[in-house]
Amino acid sequence: MSIRVTVIGTGYLGATHAAAMAELGYDVIGIDVEPEKIAELSAGRVPFYEPGLDELLAKHVASGRLRFTTDYAEAGSFGDIHFICVGTPQLKGEFAADMRYVDSSIEMLAPHLTRPCLVVGKSTVPVGTAARVADRLTALAPAGSDAELAWNPEFLREGFAVEDTLRPNRLVIGVTSERAEQVLREVYAPLLDAGVPLVVTDLPTSELVKASANAFLATKISFINAMAEVCEAAGADVTLLAKALSYDDRIGGKFLGAGLGFGGGCLPKDIRAFMARAGELGADQALTFLREVDAINMRRRARVVELAREQCNGSFLGRRIAVLGAAFKPDSDDIRDSPALNVAAQIQLQGGDVSVYDPKAMDNARKAYPSLTYVDSAAEACRGAHLVLHLTEWAEFRAMDPATLGEVVAERKIVDGRNALDLAQWRAAGWTYRALGRP
Ligand code: UDX
Repeated sequence: MSIRVTVIGTGYLGATHAAAMAELGYDVIGIDVEPEKIAELSAGRVPFYEPGLDELLAKHVASGRLRFTTDYAEAGSFGDIHFICVGTPQLKGEFAADMRYVDSSIEMLAPHLTRPCLVVGKSTVPVGTAARVADRLTALAPAGSDAELAWNPEFLREGFAVEDTLRPNRLVIGVTSERAEQVLREVYAPLLDAGVPLVVTDLPTSELVKASANAFLATKISFINAMAEVCEAAGADVTLLAKALSYDDRIGGKFLGAGLGFGGGCLPKDIRAFMARAGELGADQALTFLREVDAINMRRRARVVELAREQCNGSFLGRRIAVLGAAFKPDSDDIRDSPALNVAAQIQLQGGDVSVYDPKAMDNARKAYPSLTYVDSAAEACRGAHLVLHLTEWAEFRAMDPATLGEVVAERKIVDGRNALDLAQWRAAGWTYRALGRP
């Protein structure tokens, strides 16, 4: 009989994983504590924007291979393998991660595990969580030690979640038994057969792979942003610098995009949780550099506000500012720790009249920042603007014609917070173009 899968937590990670597991041919149940979310998903609709996920989810809800419930008893009796995909947000006022959703998912699931099964954590957690959760699982499950725990970190990027789940660049599994390894090899057989590399580790190593991968990516972004600061001081151009660096394949060109820096529901809180955990383990010195990585990143937001203020001759009072982009990155409607909205809000607090447009993140932005003005198009945001800020690099913005846009603004001034627009084209159309790390 085919393996039966449950996926606990149906956010960006879980909803994608559930649909992907159905695509691999398994019968899948997704579980969440929010009934509204379950109702949407059951109707074949994704409650957030992720390219390609709508189609995949609708396909498998229709085929009957994928369904959703809030009932842990149903999940417990159904599944041979249970994936934990709940969030681990930053605790308010602290660096550490909030483990309440991971803990409660185990507390709710375990009492229903009466036969041999594997519980597989995918959430990003502080190292040591898996061992702790494994003990709790064995203690609470009627199946005892036959309810086993493994860890299988997820590296998906929002905007590419479906692609990254069905064709990941690697699979990492942390296990404590041959049996767990065999079950995971079987579940992921279609990916392994397609050549996806597999690294089998112990539990703490698997947890650390995720934390260190995100720390490395954040460091790479802050490195190039630090270079942008030096470039500004020296009158150099960070985009050409990055291009020249990228030809060295020890360095590589990815994640060398200088600009407004990283945001989102992962990198910022994950590097902080990593520092907090290292401190608890007595290894805090090893990660003090991440404080600097964080500080460089947060400084980019302040620097964009400063550049914008300079363009407004020193004050935002009585100035109309168009903000293009609200999502933390393009092809997502996620606004968690969005650098774009952070900048928009700072400018508004300093007296600017800010109009925001984003292709997909308007509803989320409106809920989180209700006092900003939201409009239905880039042109509408720019109408009468004294300054345009390009803060999330959607393809739609890169395709804008600077001459046409020049007709509707009050002043042809743009700050490109993402170094993503064609400088020559904008200057040729009579715009004052400013960007981070460029003359
Ligand atoms: C990230 C990791 O890439 C992923 O592996 C992990 O599982 C979750 O965290 P995600 O948050 O979806 O994924 O976005 P990512 O594409 O990594 O971008 C993160 C942030 O960095 C965005 O705000 C983006 O705008 C910014 N970024 C990215 C840069 O500022 N410069 C770059 O060169 C690349």
